Amino acid sequence: MSGPGPERQRAIFLDGVRGRAPRVPVSFERLEARARAVMSREGFAYVAGGAGAELTLRANRAAFERWAIVPRVLRDVSVRDLSIELFGDRLPAPILLAPVGVLEMAHREADAAVARAAARAEIPMIVSSQASCPIETCAAVGSGPRWFQLYWNGVDAVMESFVRRAEACHCRAIVLTLDTTMLAWRPRDLDLAYLPFLHGRGIAQYTSDPAFRGRLAEPLDGEPAAPAGRITWAAVKAFVGAARRYPGSLLTNLRSGQPRAAVRRFAATFPRPSLSWEDIPRLRELTKLPLLLKGILHPDDARRAVDAGADGVIVSNHGGRQVDGAIATLDALPDIVEAVGGRVPVLLDSGIRTGADVFKALALGARAVCIGRPYVYGLALAGEAGVLEVLRNLLADFDLTVGLAGCRGVEEITRARLQRTPFQVS
Ligand code: FNR
Ligand code: LAC
Repeated sequence: MSGPGPERQRAIFLDGVRGRAPRVPVSFERLEARARAVMSREGFAYVAGGAGAELTLRANRAAFERWAIVPRVLRDVSVRDLSIELFGDRLPAPILLAPVGVLEMAHREADAAVARAAARAEIPMIVSSQASCPIETCAAVGSGPRWFQLYWNGVDAVMESFVRRAEACHCRAIVLTLDTTMLAWRPRDLDLAYLPFLHGRGIAQYTSDPAFRGRLAEPLDGEPAAPAGRITWAAVKAFVGAARRYPGSLLTNLRSGQPRAAVRRFAATFPRPSLSWEDIPRLRELTKLPLLLKGILHPDDARRAVDAGADGVIVSNHGGRQVDGAIATLDALPDIVEAVGGRVPVLLDSGIRTGADVFKALALGARAVCIGRPYVYGLALAGEAGVLEVLRNLLADFDLTVGLAGCRGVEEITRARLQRTPFQVS
């Protein structure tokens, strides 16, 4: 018996014989509960929360329950090939790490720890524009394949600089996120009156960026120019206090030398609500890297993305964090796959928690999936090792699901393996 599923199971159960239980729980519910216990109130609210009444957060999960897997038997599943090819790279499984900002709220090593875990698992990490470490740090610590997630800054030169830095760091693709033209109404964050960026967290890509820093002394719309170097003693004390707690951002922010000016400039130039289809060709021409558009939920937008030269689309509702009441991604997937018609790969995220979820997304036409919160909770509990455990568990679960459903590889995961269920399980 071999493969990531049986091997991982054996390792966990053998640990049990020696009296050791997994320090990172295998079930998502327990994983989230344990992470909550070690995270700050603000950190947990920011990660776990969704927009509005969190209907879409729940709908993402419910959508998976309305599909049932119909296993086949006696098909010799002793050898299973979970690997896929994506933009010329062979990946060990159809799984990527979704871009997640402000990881310093989960663990002081933040993106650097995730980059190391991703490299060890050979799973691509999509580094966020709102990361807590500069992309160069992730590139230096993790040798694995990495992609870069782009928020199109209000200043084009900053956006362009991000793309150039991603290229220099050998990123394999650029993911432009489209569903965050504004940050949504998020009650958990609002009730705590806490937005990390205003505390200097999650802006390391900016404070380390020459195009951004070069503009720090320029006046912002409607404001007088920030006098260079004039920082009050109280601001310095507040900043150093915060930086001590979150050393991930300490260096990058201190290097910028003007923390308050940086926060204000960031807040004035992010996000960019004016972005439209007319802007896409400029980015398309800017880079030869594969370009994916993330946050697509309508088949016409998927079609338009391909027509605009996108090399892939990511069906995503931002993990239920943007439009509350938005369609669940699994429900949106089949029509989008049909609209794209095989011209480019379609990826999906939002609500993937188990191997069966990955299986269902693939059966409905996704080439691969991205996971967000599960690895953030692993990070909160045990840093790099915690992220690696979450990844290995998901891989194992997926491997076992594939084999037990009677498939020998991802190409055998087809629509024929699924049936709609008239009832919801929970
Ligand atoms: C995100 N997501 C996100 N997406 C993006 O394009 N850029 C970003 O900076 C962030 N930041 C971010 C922070 C946090 C705390 C979360 C939870 C999510 C969205 C992310 O890429 C992905 O779409 C969802 O997380 C997927 O849903 P699940 O797996 O978390 O349910
Ligand atoms: C969020 C942004 C950073 O979801 O994407 O909080």
